Amino acid sequence: MALLKSSKDSWEAQVDFDHLPRHVAIIMDGNGRWAKRRGLPRTAGHAAGAENFRTIATYCQKIGLEYLTVYAFSTENWKRPLEEVSAIMGLLKKYLLESIEKMERDKVKMHFFGDLTPLPQELREMCERTEEISKRYDGIQLNVCLNYGGRDEIVRAARAFAADCAAGTRKPEALTEADFSAYLYSAGVPDPDLVIRPSGEIRISNFLLWQSAYAELYYTDVLWPDFSKEELHKALVAYQGRSRRYGGV
Ligand code: FPP
Repeated sequence: MALLKSSKDSWEAQVDFDHLPRHVAIIMDGNGRWAKRRGLPRTAGHAAGAENFRTIATYCQKIGLEYLTVYAFSTENWKRPLEEVSAIMGLLKKYLLESIEKMERDKVKMHFFGDLTPLPQELREMCERTEEISKRYDGIQLNVCLNYGGRDEIVRAARAFAADCAAGTRKPEALTEADFSAYLYSAGVPDPDLVIRPSGEIRISNFLLWQSAYAELYYTDVLWPDFSKEELHKALVAYQGRSRRYGGV
């Protein structure tokens, strides 16, 4: 038992909490497999995943992370059975309601990346309300990607920029990378330093394509509902062991 405890603590002890990444992004993958292994419906996996989101987000706030971005629902996830889509929407509603109640105490800011228009009206209004309340706070910023796709985000930004050019307020030849970033859902948010994907899949799946240009990627076989604080510590230790050169030497 003592050995177990000390080996568990050893990851935490190796994290340099004074030099954390500013922005961590997570693809919350593996909920379905987690449920299947327990003989439970996939929706039970999403419920466990949502609960884990709360645990990890609370911990990220505690250690002083500035931004946490999670992939909750992609533009492609509508292809899933209606029952599963409804369950995910229901979970989002439940967690948003609870977050709104606690925001004042926690000073958490919430922001949504994605096109919210096709979402159920009640959920959309809740997202808008949450963003509005968030303007008062200055704690960790939680960005929830909802009906989000990286390519879709870039196409929308390109359209908005083209519309500004057509209106005469922008000039195509003057566009810089920083200007273009301001047309993305993530406008004003620094790029992620670390992107974590649990569940053994080693791909980016249309997540933060523009923003992840120089992110450090971390993959683990652990399924998202089992991705504990200890797993986060491991990811942070791996990140802190990397040498970030941004294309230089
Ligand atoms: C991927 O696992 C997970 C999703 C598509 C949904 C994630 C949604 C939540 C965790 C619930 C709500 C979120 C918040 C922020 C409260 P998968 O279903 O693809 O798993 P699999 O690959 O094992 O099938």
